Amino acid sequence: MHFNITTEKIKEINADLELIIVAEKNLKHAFIKDAKLLKKAGFKGAQDELCLLVEKERLYVGVESLAPESIRPAVAVALRSLIGNKSYTSLKVATYLKDASTASLQAMVEGIVLGSYCFNRYKSDKQHAAIKQVELSLESYNEHQLDVQSAIKAVHEAKILAHATNFTRDIVNTTPDDCYPAVMADIASRLAKENKMDISILKPKEMKKEKMQALLAVARASRHKPRLIHLLHKPKHPKAVITLVGKGLTYDSGGLSLKPADYMVTMKSDKSGGSAVLGIMKAVSELNLDVEVHGFVGAVENMIGGDAYKPDDVLTAKNGKTIEVRNTDAEGRLVLADVLCYAQQEVKADYLFDVATLTGACVVGVGNYTSGVMGNSNLPKEMVLEAAKSSGEFATKLDFNRYLKKTLESQIADICNISNTRYGGAITAGEFLSAFIDEAHKEKWAHIDIAGPAFVEHAWGENPHGASGAGVRMMVKLLEKLAKA
Ligand code: BES
Ligand code: ZN
Ligand code: ZN
Repeated sequence: MHFNITTEKIKEINADLELIIVAEKNLKHAFIKDAKLLKKAGFKGAQDELCLLVEKERLYVGVESLAPESIRPAVAVALRSLIGNKSYTSLKVATYLKDASTASLQAMVEGIVLGSYCFNRYKSDKQHAAIKQVELSLESYNEHQLDVQSAIKAVHEAKILAHATNFTRDIVNTTPDDCYPAVMADIASRLAKENKMDISILKPKEMKKEKMQALLAVARASRHKPRLIHLLHKPKHPKAVITLVGKGLTYDSGGLSLKPADYMVTMKSDKSGGSAVLGIMKAVSELNLDVEVHGFVGAVENMIGGDAYKPDDVLTAKNGKTIEVRNTDAEGRLVLADVLCYAQQEVKADYLFDVATLTGACVVGVGNYTSGVMGNSNLPKEMVLEAAKSSGEFATKLDFNRYLKKTLESQIADICNISNTRYGGAITAGEFLSAFIDEAHKEKWAHIDIAGPAFVEHAWGENPHGASGAGVRMMVKLLEKLAKA
């Protein structure tokens, strides 16, 4: 898909289709070209509502307001409606500026790329977005006018961000037998080569040397051996050093504490955190951000078998802490415990974030569309929440407390891998991770549980059915801000 930015008036641009964004409250205004027709069609201009006027070659979409968080999903819904339609190969659209900032232009471009996403790998009849050319007219409807240079820059950044999100979606949507730990490592190696990043990959032998017994226990029953990926984006004069850690469970059957059948489907998505880290590294390197970013992914498959780790096992994590296993389905935290310890040993970072589909409890607590943000200190949590807001992702804070922390106590080991209460499962999982954060990093760490938004079995806003690429946009926004500081 090619974007062209022009100062030409929208009506003078040649394209198969014009996309027109209308706010409900503006529908009655004379400047809406097709007001009468739209009324006849029953178009009310509600958020994400569509009306295609075939003879006029215009596609209308409603928005609540011209804010980026309204424009992004509306444009995406419009583009998604065109997937499989071969009649339109070029699109023209005016820029809608709420103010003189480039935020709504960026949101529009993100909406176009994210909405055109289609996962086809396993379909015989492949559907595609046929739009190849997008003409963006800077003609202004109000006093705000963008200069071409800042528009070009905004579009360039938005494209990188949206393509990185789609890259993550592709990895997550890929089935567990096509995307197992060695495949994730290959994807990371290819990315490192293409984008000129350093990479190192640990295999079981090195993991044993590093004393990662918790990760290795989870991995043991699978025919697919684990990998620990470490990608590095290192500019000359970085403003800060950031470590990202992603949960990359290429499949989570639950292990011997086997998941019920209905809960096992979609567990290919348990690699969403790790896949997000790969997408973030892709965007950061393409944007060439002035921050040093280390991306770690613990890629493991949790299976059953004669060799499986068991409830009642006691494992020693890399930092020497012993863990009583009471449920093998709480495996993500075991993998992350070792990867977090390794990441902290390798890098002394200014900030440390982990991204994981860690708990069903987080989905119960805050719903399908929102990530839970946890940690011991306010600053990194607030940074994530603020970045999420501007990115179009939803995130909310879940506070730790000393009473929930106590529910992880074990009678025979240092800590238990599950809590003794059925309630507050997202927070107790976060508290468990906190036990593997060094004193030096305690105030610098935040944990992001993306179990809800990472994979949803219906389309929502700019997200398609299946993988959303959750975490990518918010973390890139966060890193962009640190790079500008
Ligand atoms: N991968 C799951 C969490 C999950 C659930 C992600 C639903 C996405 C959607 C995780 O490994 C898990 O199974 N967690 C258990 C923890 C429990 C055993 C304490 C859970 O949430 O039930
Ligand atoms: Zn699990
Ligand atoms: Zn899991």
